[in-house]
Amino acid sequence: MSDRIHTLSGYFHEYQKSVADPENFWARVADSFHWKKRWDKVLDWNFEGPDVKWFLNGKLNITENILERHLYTIGDKPAIIWEPNEPGEDSRTLTYRQLYEEVCRFSNVLQEKGVQKGDKVIIYMPMVPEAAVAMLACARVGAIHSVVFAGFSSNALADRINDCEAKVVLTADGNFRGNKKIPVKAVVDEALENTSTVSTVIIYQRTGQEVSMKAGRDFWWHEAIEGKDAHQEAVEMDSEDMLFILYTSGSTGKPKGVVHTCGGYMVYSKYTFENVFQYSPGDVYWCTADIGWITGHSYIVYGPLLAGATSIMFEGVPTYPHAGRFWEIVDKYKVNQFYTAPTAIRALQAHGTEPIEPFKLDSLKVLGSVGEPINEEAWHWYHTHIGKTKCPIVDTWWQTETGGIMVSPLAGITPTKPAYATLPLPGIQLAIMDTEGKEMTGNSVEGNLCVKFPWPGMIRTTYGDHDRCKQTYFSAYKGMYFTGDGVKRDHDGYYRILGRVDDVINVSGHRMGTAEVENAINEHPLVVESAVVGYPHQVKGQGIYAYVICDMKNRSEQSLTNEIKDTVTKIIGPIAKPDKIQIVPGLPKTRSGKIMRRILRKVAEGNMDNMGDTSTLLDPDVVDKIIEGRIE
Ligand code: PRX
Repeated sequence: MSDRIHTLSGYFHEYQKSVADPENFWARVADSFHWKKRWDKVLDWNFEGPDVKWFLNGKLNITENILERHLYTIGDKPAIIWEPNEPGEDSRTLTYRQLYEEVCRFSNVLQEKGVQKGDKVIIYMPMVPEAAVAMLACARVGAIHSVVFAGFSSNALADRINDCEAKVVLTADGNFRGNKKIPVKAVVDEALENTSTVSTVIIYQRTGQEVSMKAGRDFWWHEAIEGKDAHQEAVEMDSEDMLFILYTSGSTGKPKGVVHTCGGYMVYSKYTFENVFQYSPGDVYWCTADIGWITGHSYIVYGPLLAGATSIMFEGVPTYPHAGRFWEIVDKYKVNQFYTAPTAIRALQAHGTEPIEPFKLDSLKVLGSVGEPINEEAWHWYHTHIGKTKCPIVDTWWQTETGGIMVSPLAGITPTKPAYATLPLPGIQLAIMDTEGKEMTGNSVEGNLCVKFPWPGMIRTTYGDHDRCKQTYFSAYKGMYFTGDGVKRDHDGYYRILGRVDDVINVSGHRMGTAEVENAINEHPLVVESAVVGYPHQVKGQGIYAYVICDMKNRSEQSLTNEIKDTVTKIIGPIAKPDKIQIVPGLPKTRSGKIMRRILRKVAEGNMDNMGDTSTLLDPDVVDKIIEGRIE
């Protein structure tokens, strides 16, 4: 049974039902899945704890809903089509049957290595089908996967391994990205020097580069699966057992492990996938995200595969070997739904329309956008040059914590407006809050975006620190989940996301906590103090601007800033490298020692006309010096 909405009035009808009687609404959606045992109660919740449980005492295994469910109906249909980095290399297709067999084989490997229900498994892999197989095999044996984006440094990887006390790491020898061959296993080796819980590492051979293998700990993927049974009994999970942990940055401290659970996430990822993209059987769907992020989890792997879709997985980058690569792939596989990030659109827009010309793009029906606000110019370019004005754009707003899309048009159903995520999906009850903590009702209002009722795909906790979950999301506004985003509801009741209102910056659709980048910068021995802010960046959406107080020690500014960039790359990864580093004599601090970030943001933005009240600063002169040294 499909729960697809087909008309705008159908959407309003479903939305009303979902608010009037959420339990019945979600029970109906959940009934279309295979449960080993149906739930006793649909929902138990309070946002004070927070304590949210969906489909209580329901028993299931999410992979049965992906694999067994489709084996006898669409077993020969491609589940994953993989496009390699090099266009000349053969692509690969895994049908639902082959996916079933690969997942079972690898599940048997995991069990042979002693992996049991509840164990944590880190997946640090390139974009190869085995990465999806790895995720599903974990889910099948009841292990909790935590995928770490393969661009993160060994330090960042070690932090995540230590935080969740992972027992196993699944990785590869290397990674092809554009014209680069990136070592992956070597990064794992380095990370494991600072961890003590990992007993097994399994390495998928991708690049063939030399790697060191530690006897008794390291095993090749292809050797491990040899002779393994292509059948395996899925482990029974409770709805509220953890499915995965995904680390994400916040405004304070180290990244936190967002926890999603089996039942609710399954129901929500499939429901949102089918409705937002209006996926029909036979369609070919492509999401360009990396599986290291939530978009890859929910909309390359879980959502599409639960829906029995064909999901394309691309190993490479949009501009290799040419700036038309995305469009070449769209034509090659006759992609119907295409889902990417505004930063990719803007990067390709900068190459003009010439790279698009050789391609027909006539298979496209729906275009998606995710990860950051899409500016109107990029929206129109996407709509005109890629969608040829006939494809609806679904600007999907959501977060790692929400598990799935929350606010978005339904493709071809909800009238769109450039830069607007439009309307909440059924089941999503939004509230816009003012700074005094009052809900702003009615239209034409602007404030902080909250959600006032639970939805099945929502975060349950932050791994190992429930209080952090409470403080971060459920304390700003009583009885509400606070998203950290600013939002406007216009005269039509449409939502436009305005960006983060906390100290999180969104660089190319990647979330970076300013504190996290500052901590990395401060690791450089000559850095005394630093402050990081975001500023508007043509391609990345936001760039990272760092103000740094240094002990220069006869170094040139140039060599010092390069060293600082290297330090950040080493501590976090290249995605966190500041775009601009300004060496400053001091930072604008109040008498109580608080950095006035508002001033730093204005300077970084080049918006120095009105600096506002600086009278509470300890040393107001420092502002002039900062303006003087501003980096264009
Ligand atoms: O600020 C919002 C922005 O990305 C944040 C969530 O980041 P992350 O957890 O990494 O997940 C990204 C992919 C779901 C949000 O708080 N964001 C995401 N989608 C949009 C967006 N901002 C505006 N419009 C969007 N469509």
